[in-house]
Amino acid sequence: MGGAGPGSGASRATGTSTDVRAGEGWGVRVWLRVLGSAAGGGSPQWNCGCPVCTAVRSGAGPARTQSSVAVSADRGRWFLINAAPDVRTQIEAFPALHPTDDRTTPLDAVLLTDAELDHTLGLLLLREAGAVTVYATPAVHKTLHDGSGVLRTLERYCPVEWRAVVPGTDVALADGLSCRAFDVPTSKRDRFGSGTGHGRVVGYRLTDDHTGGTLVYLPGVQALTPEVRAEIAGCDCLLIDGTCWRDDELVRLGLAGKTSREMGHLPIDGPDGSLAQLPSLGVTRTIYVHMNNTNPILLADSPERRIVQDSGTEVAMDGLEVEV
Ligand code: MLT
Ligand code: MN
Ligand code: ZN
Repeated sequence: MGGAGPGSGASRATGTSTDVRAGEGWGVRVWLRVLGSAAGGGSPQWNCGCPVCTAVRSGAGPARTQSSVAVSADRGRWFLINAAPDVRTQIEAFPALHPTDDRTTPLDAVLLTDAELDHTLGLLLLREAGAVTVYATPAVHKTLHDGSGVLRTLERYCPVEWRAVVPGTDVALADGLSCRAFDVPTSKRDRFGSGTGHGRVVGYRLTDDHTGGTLVYLPGVQALTPEVRAEIAGCDCLLIDGTCWRDDELVRLGLAGKTSREMGHLPIDGPDGSLAQLPSLGVTRTIYVHMNNTNPILLADSPERRIVQDSGTEVAMDGLEVEV
């Protein structure tokens, strides 16, 4: 974005571990880093005293920033998938994203899965860039421009290059890194318009052309339709929507009138929940991301966390690094 510099990560190669927590991320062969693992509001959420937020404040689980990952095939040029309101802290916590000299940064572009504020407010915090490159579907671009105004505002600070994302089309993001967005149907209405059409939510299937590794990033999914399943099938690593444990989680707590599904998020638990469906997806490694602050899997010793772990599924925390 306005002057990408090569090689910031490669020269630091010292380790062999594939999973590294925040603060230890120096130069292992990182392919993806979870910058933020919580849903909108983070964990704990500033105005929430629910049992999970209270427990996290007491140390029962690490605090988590809002949903975003960084990916790279060469450890030199990086792409953000979504730009959280915590993007500044997230970049500072990850040396591979630090500027190499003057204002040269390894960050090339931001890919968006949707137009939600937790995934897009960080764009405004990148306004000091010489230019910002944004990959988004026409539907997401329209909401960000004409609806929430995030892109219209950003354009007053720096040039914004919009690259239209076309679901189902393979795109070379960088040498050795290709990407295909796929449509994720949702009945959730556009907060800034009446749109219910395609392209308002997408997932990304990423391929490392050198290793052949594939990874799917899907922080928001209402239902695992046959089409979505086909995009996930056989990938090496799936990072999937873990917003709510129960479908009525927020209703039972008196915090919202809508179920998880009605908000566009397939719950983890239940006969039709994501956990029950994961074994049929044929994925090597599955990691929950985008956890809401009410979700008990955020707590290291909760029964719900144990159920997830016993199934062989992981729960992301900020700083988790994945190589495929
Ligand atoms: C969502 O994922 O449903 C939204 O980000 C919720 C929100 O933070 O408004
Ligand atoms: Mn969200
Ligand atoms: Zn809470």
